[in-house]
Amino acid sequence: MDRHEHARLDALQRDPYPHYARARNAEGLTFVPELDAWLVARDADVREVLRRPEAFSSANALRPDVLPGPTVLAEMGRGFGGRPVVVSSDGALHQRLRAPVVQGLSPSRVAAVVPYAAERAAELIDGFAARGSADLMAEYALKLPGQVIGHLIGLDPADVPLAVHGGYRAEQLLFRPMEEADQLAAARDIVEMQHLLDTYVRERHAHPRDDLCSSLIAALTARGESAGDELTLDERHEMVAHLQNFLLAGHLTTSALTGSLLLHLMHHRAQWELLCEKPELIPAAVEEAARYDSPIQGFRRITTRPVVLSGTELPTGAVVFVAYGSANRDPSRHERPDVFDITRPPARHLAFGYGVHGCPGSQLAREQLRITLELLTARLPGLRLAEDRPVVMRPTMIHRSPEELPLTW
Ligand code: HEM
Repeated sequence: MDRHEHARLDALQRDPYPHYARARNAEGLTFVPELDAWLVARDADVREVLRRPEAFSSANALRPDVLPGPTVLAEMGRGFGGRPVVVSSDGALHQRLRAPVVQGLSPSRVAAVVPYAAERAAELIDGFAARGSADLMAEYALKLPGQVIGHLIGLDPADVPLAVHGGYRAEQLLFRPMEEADQLAAARDIVEMQHLLDTYVRERHAHPRDDLCSSLIAALTARGESAGDELTLDERHEMVAHLQNFLLAGHLTTSALTGSLLLHLMHHRAQWELLCEKPELIPAAVEEAARYDSPIQGFRRITTRPVVLSGTELPTGAVVFVAYGSANRDPSRHERPDVFDITRPPARHLAFGYGVHGCPGSQLAREQLRITLELLTARLPGLRLAEDRPVVMRPTMIHRSPEELPLTW
């Protein structure tokens, strides 16, 4: 990727909405070179793709926007993973990988983790409440979801920062243009995280506990006669890939939406005041932020056969970018879609996906966002943006959020 291509990708990532609007209004599908994919932009077309997983495979869902060079790949070779995970698998394999994830995120499992999440959230706010100002991204949004997912998986709290840091580095390496030296440093951090996860995999396989790490390993390595034996190297790769995907899916997204939710409430201060008066609107505010500025703007799919979508003929192997973020701004589905309005009547948005790959962690995310708004509206109703300058969005299509969120009260 040359400098100009980097710049174009960066611009698209920071503000994809004008591209979406053009694609929704165009006939058929639009090919977007920055994404190297056909952009599926209309709500009805996005739903059609998600309803037809046999024609639109998820094999390339995690295909990076930036392909690392050989030196970086060699460094990554010292780590673990590189196996299909739930989000990038299809059919029977997908069902096998998804079942224990859904079980691990069952309503009772989520309910059990809520008190822990509420305590951590209150503790984080205690850390800055008396100060009168803080960067809510760094001091809150980037911290809470990592602590919560770490707790659910069964990580020692002391290991959470390394695991969370590795998650960010994986996102940077695969989705943002960087110099090779930076890529190499990111790869080292990722490998370190993978070795940490591998210690958990082996330890919990030998001595299972009542945590998600143990139950995922038990479900996915159930081999009957050889259960209890040491894991093979291949199984360790598979387990680390799975845990890493779960860890990343569980915190990067929720951190991103926490930041965007607060940002849009601050930009629409009257709606923040309304929320302080009427906390019963909190769930609606969460849904509106998820619709209006979806953290996961889209994922790729690849066709398994020739398909006609929206009048465009796609051959086998065609890559599409399924833009949930665009479907959520489609005027044929949502009235005044470009307006942020927490009082709008509930409408089904696609921020958590739809169909067989629909997000199994949405309830856990919603609980954390609810707790966040309940605490902040009660404790810091005077919250507002600290600076006049515009808040810059992080350049990414999969964890859209402010870079920083300097607030004061
Ligand atoms: C605001 C927070 C979140 C958002 C916006 C979000 C969004 C999504 C979306 C759009 C998908 C569908 C992917 C596809 O179509 O290929 C998805 C899948 C997934 N999400 Fe979430 N998610 C969030 C939070 C979470 C949490 C907290 C967890 C775990 C604790 C989680 C775990 C997963 C997993 C494992 C999948 C893959 C499911 C499959 O492929 O069958 N997510 N998420």
